[in-house]
Amino acid sequence: MCGIVGYAGSRPAAPILLRALQDLEYRGYDSAGVAFLSNSGDDEPLTVTKRQGKIANLVEALDANGSPKATTGMGHTRWATHGRPTDLNAHPHVSCNGEVCVIHNGIVENYAELRTQLREAGHTFASETDTETIAHLLEDRIREGASLLDALRKTTQQLEGSQAVVAMSPSEPGVLVAARVGNAGGVVVGYADGEMFLASDLAAILPHTQRVAFLADGQLVRIDERGAQFCDSAGVPFEPETREIPIDPVSALKGTYPHFMLKEMMEQPEALSDTIRSVATLQPASLHLDELGPVNDRLADINRVVLIGMGTSLHAAMVGRRYIEELAGIPAEIDNASEFRYRKPILDERTLIVSVSQSGETVDVLEAMAVAKKTGATLVTICNTEGAQTTRVADGTVYTRAGLERGVASTKCFTTALAALYLLALRLGEARGRLSQPEIEDHIQSLLRIPDAAARVLKDDGAYRSVAERLYEAEHIMFLGRALAYPVALEGALKMKEISYIHAEGYAAGEMKHGPIALIDRTFPSVAVATRHALHAKMISNIEQVQARAGEVVVVVTEGDKEIPASADHALAVPDVAPLLEPIIATIPLQFLAYHIAVLRGCDVDQPRNLAKTVTVE
Ligand code: G6P
Repeated sequence: MCGIVGYAGSRPAAPILLRALQDLEYRGYDSAGVAFLSNSGDDEPLTVTKRQGKIANLVEALDANGSPKATTGMGHTRWATHGRPTDLNAHPHVSCNGEVCVIHNGIVENYAELRTQLREAGHTFASETDTETIAHLLEDRIREGASLLDALRKTTQQLEGSQAVVAMSPSEPGVLVAARVGNAGGVVVGYADGEMFLASDLAAILPHTQRVAFLADGQLVRIDERGAQFCDSAGVPFEPETREIPIDPVSALKGTYPHFMLKEMMEQPEALSDTIRSVATLQPASLHLDELGPVNDRLADINRVVLIGMGTSLHAAMVGRRYIEELAGIPAEIDNASEFRYRKPILDERTLIVSVSQSGETVDVLEAMAVAKKTGATLVTICNTEGAQTTRVADGTVYTRAGLERGVASTKCFTTALAALYLLALRLGEARGRLSQPEIEDHIQSLLRIPDAAARVLKDDGAYRSVAERLYEAEHIMFLGRALAYPVALEGALKMKEISYIHAEGYAAGEMKHGPIALIDRTFPSVAVATRHALHAKMISNIEQVQARAGEVVVVVTEGDKEIPASADHALAVPDVAPLLEPIIATIPLQFLAYHIAVLRGCDVDQPRNLAKTVTVE
């Protein structure tokens, strides 16, 4: 989950690395650090500066020492796993004789054992981290005469667990090496004129170049200002496939918005429109999910679908299950990827696995996909990141076209994932002959109305703000929904706890009477999602049951609803849309509620405590 970046070129590395760390800070913000290799004999060969807390602390420390002129360097922003978030535990980590320096993403699962062996051999450790063992192991290899790349290749073979490692050494000025082992962290290599980049993800590289290559499991790379050399875990050189990434780096900027989350919520109409229009046309009504590739030919034979994901993406998968059952008529299940991977799931060639992951790098999703792949099942991923690891493991992809999402709390990637799942379900229904051409046309028409409906929901900011003012001091909030509004309730509760730190629970409203209702009193408000097609009548009686216990209720209703707003304490109205598409629209008021409450409580909306955008450790 940490952010890593490396630079080799002819420009001063410091501003490039600091800018990249800002772009990567959403991956972890417990500490930040940089290291530079000198290219003149007058300076220290290797300098490291690192500070606990946000990047601003690191910038201050660097400013105090005078900005380094080195043109080779690495930077790291940390999400702590082993060792507290202190200056000493911050990356980069240097070996005891200062011969090598590393940054790392992932977990060295056998670090305790390695550390004992290294200590017995005379190494002394400066930090509590698992990462530092890598620096010491590398130093031993270099002392045996290995090149930095070969030292890294041999060292990674001693490490258990999944990781991405970047290293540099004064013994090879101007050089950085990197390795990817398993699924814990991506490594992207960026090619520019006379300079090269390494990073954990595209956000750090796109401001400089759109030409990139990705490391797969077991691959290594060595860069200097002239280019890159790749090899596999046996040391055999190879040429990777390079790609041009069509993402506009400007879209990653906050612009005039105070927070990325707000900007990303406001971008939902365009993101939805881009996602839908990238694969669906109306005249003639057709679906062209080209990135599904060979999967398109296998869809007619699919007899079961299993959807997997984590966090917000798992909630999207829950909605997707219903889409697949209703539109394609295929039995569908969902599973939390971190649980699925440790079961012995019974799958076969006619099972379709649909992983949902905006980053395409979530380790549990990747491991679950690896489990599924061994069974011969067909794998499709719903992903927002061009070229991400899930898209390379899957047999086919449906891309969401949301643009970079930087807020840790996912918003536009959730609603666009629902649109992508709907499109996939339609394609499955078409391939199986369950949906007629006129039906497909109707569905595409309904989908194409969604961006406008989303834009209308976004206009109602004053209403969300005034409800937020009522609720922001609550200690607990219950979110309730039935049918397709149930995953919406779960997502509303997740958004609330992620960014406002209010204890929030999402419940199927029918479950209320089986325990949760005991919690309700005048201090425990509820948010009920009671749109027209989400078992409206049943929701009315659930709302009344809460009110009968003095609980305050905020209700998300469909415009024109005459029954609920009369009794609810606060009603937030959303436009009437096709029944299955209600979750896309009903989620947006809940995003706003969480956002405004977090702002009122003075929380760090884009970088909530303890969280990270992309979870690459178990
Ligand atoms: C983290 C993020 C969530 C996200 C989840 C899954 O927990 O904070 O916002 O939903 O990971 O991420 P993915 O990239 O797989 O969708």
